[in-house]
Amino acid sequence: MAEGSLAAVVLAAGQGVRMRSNLLKVLHPVGGKPMLLHVMERVEELGADPRVVVVGFQAERVEELLGGRAVYARQSPLLGTAHALLRAEPLLAEHRGPVLVLYGDTPLLRLKDLEDLVRAHTAAGVGCTLLTAEVDDPTGYGRILRRDGRLWRVVEEADASPEEARIREINAGIYCFEPGPLFSALRRVGPRPPKGEYYLVDVVQIMVEEGTGAQAVSSSNPEAVLGVNTRRELARAERAFRLRVLEDLMDQGVTVVDPGTTFVAAGVEVGRDAVIHPFSVIGAGCRIGPGAEVGPYACLVEAVVEEGARVVASVVEGSRVGPGARVGPYSHLRPGTVLEAGARVGNFAEVKNTRVGRGSKVPHHSYLGDAVVGEGVNVGAGTVTVNYDGERKHPTTIGDEAFIGCNANLIAPVEVGKGAYVAAGSTITRPVPPGALGVGRARQRNVEGWVGRRFDRRGGGGR
Ligand code: UD1
Ligand code: CA
Repeated sequence: MAEGSLAAVVLAAGQGVRMRSNLLKVLHPVGGKPMLLHVMERVEELGADPRVVVVGFQAERVEELLGGRAVYARQSPLLGTAHALLRAEPLLAEHRGPVLVLYGDTPLLRLKDLEDLVRAHTAAGVGCTLLTAEVDDPTGYGRILRRDGRLWRVVEEADASPEEARIREINAGIYCFEPGPLFSALRRVGPRPPKGEYYLVDVVQIMVEEGTGAQAVSSSNPEAVLGVNTRRELARAERAFRLRVLEDLMDQGVTVVDPGTTFVAAGVEVGRDAVIHPFSVIGAGCRIGPGAEVGPYACLVEAVVEEGARVVASVVEGSRVGPGARVGPYSHLRPGTVLEAGARVGNFAEVKNTRVGRGSKVPHHSYLGDAVVGEGVNVGAGTVTVNYDGERKHPTTIGDEAFIGCNANLIAPVEVGKGAYVAAGSTITRPVPPGALGVGRARQRNVEGWVGRRFDRRGGGGR
């Protein structure tokens, strides 16, 4: 019977040659987060202590990522999973309880599978309990060989006979061991041709044969143990992870119209009855309020979309879209923008570091930068805040209920007073007082007969 607390060892030293990457395999992200971090989070949730990470290729990058969340054992040269695990022995010298061993390339692990594994191990009093899964395509995994229904050994794909290769019960690569029997068995594992690697899976047969005992526990969810060795598998993991995030949102009362074209980062809060339309990407750090509608074709980065607001075919970065406000189609809110309740931006508008007051409209083709726009303002089509003089940015202030005619240039710093009007086509360089009309454009004159005279001079012809 195992006693004492649980330790964990995560193997993360192997380069991951099959990825054909300059980056260590376990640092490739799934759902925007390195695979190793997914594994580490599960290990922390289990309360495992100590948490040993075996590092080798790009060891510094792993240590930089995890910092004090783990202690580190170095493996060099990289001679296989048994060789890697043996490197952790000195760090576990004081440890008495079971040791959970995981690989850093299984980002979809569920806490429940790990808990079940540890529980089954503790109850059975064997040297090793390993997690298995029944998969449709076992390619690349170690196959589970049983005798009289009991775990007997694990055969790696390269060593499997054609008959063994057809077995669909695979080694998930997640194990719970008793430390004493583990390390003595590890020392007895020999190198395997052709590469001379030491396989961790070989301890299973050693323990079975010496009578320490080994058992298998199967996971009810084969997808959760997906091991990523190639870019194709990375994409499979990404897809599965994404669907998991979306299904969690659906369970909370969010409508996801087309999960196949919707990307939501983990940890994004989405309120009840919100609707996410197809072709939408919602990145980390976003929050979507109840009843809000996002998409189709929305891209949100660190954006807050409040209750009942809508964002259609637009990009919103580092901005807040207030309750019932509307963005798009075809608009870009850049960092520092706040739309107050019921405000409207778009079609075709760019707004940067600007506050647009309650119920104000920027409905067509405008650029607002470094501006404060009051309530109930109408910003006409083509209005531009001329905020940049080539060296510095300057602010524009537009008072409540002001009306900016089409195609106005507001040369900042400048202020348009409360209730003031700006005539269409104006270039405003001085403040417009409250209630005034600001006109800043050349007066129109008509030159009678001009067209006829122009063509006469050319000696006829034309118009
Ligand atoms: C391994 C198992 C296989 C199992 C599969 C589950 C062995 C021999 N095989 O195969 O039975 O079905 O995982 O996904 O264990 N690593 C090191 N040092 C090394 C080699 C590897 O730390 O010298 C680390 C890697 O960084 C990786 C993990 O161990 O995180 C697994 O190595 P990998 O080469 O991916 O093993 P698989 O071939 O997938
Ligand atoms: Ca693997």
